[in-house]
Amino acid sequence: MEMIDLIREEKGDLKTVQLLYSAAIKKVVTKLEILNDEFKQTHNYNPIEYVKSRVKSDNSIREKMHRKGIKPSLENIVTELDDIAGVRIVCSFTPDIYKMVDIIGAQDDLTVVSVKDYIKNPKESGYKSFHMNVKVPIHLSDRMVNTQVEIQIRTIAMDFWASLEHKIYYKFEGNAPEYISRELRECASFVSMMDDKMLSLNEAIMQEKEKESQP
Ligand code: GTP
Ligand code: MG
Repeated sequence: MEMIDLIREEKGDLKTVQLLYSAAIKKVVTKLEILNDEFKQTHNYNPIEYVKSRVKSDNSIREKMHRKGIKPSLENIVTELDDIAGVRIVCSFTPDIYKMVDIIGAQDDLTVVSVKDYIKNPKESGYKSFHMNVKVPIHLSDRMVNTQVEIQIRTIAMDFWASLEHKIYYKFEGNAPEYISRELRECASFVSMMDDKMLSLNEAIMQEKEKESQP
């Protein structure tokens, strides 16, 4: 069943909903660890540098609902917010991101609800990341509930920019002076240049290694 049906049946209180979101995060994170281990074993390479996750705090939920101008009833919260459960995958290089997107898309115990590619189409702010909303089945004692998780996939460089931009921009509550926004966009392009350079260096090193291993 869907989470909204659980709430409508009045079986889903706030505690149950929080339990479901945190269970969904555990399932996704464990799945990612297994996939990364498999990659390490079969290809001697790990596409994932690290994974971060969080359940959105009560304060942050209330603040976002207020910002959206919607009454924060449990029903509204689970239908309006798609990032109550959030998982962030930080990869080494951009091609690793698309590798992860394909692998996640092919998992038959996850349903991809929507994707947004802010790498091919960066945001006005300069933000880059690949977003996937997925649903994970959570088996409770007497029912199964499809639970949504927002997965953000980025490189270390994209994560560096997004984390610091969030910190800086937050202080202005979205009304940063134009020169600050401009310089943040400029930083985003430096960061993309570094990503490209690191990727081509990595490719060059792989080629060198291949030459070495040939007789
Ligand atoms: P939300 O209402 O925030 O969920 O926006 P949305 O539904 O249009 O989703 P979107 O994919 O645009 O962004 C969701 C999440 O991506 C945010 O909660 C942030 O974590 C991240 N994000 C999006 N834009 C930016 C940005 O300009 N800077 C930073 N640092 N993070 C961003
Ligand atoms: Mg969203």
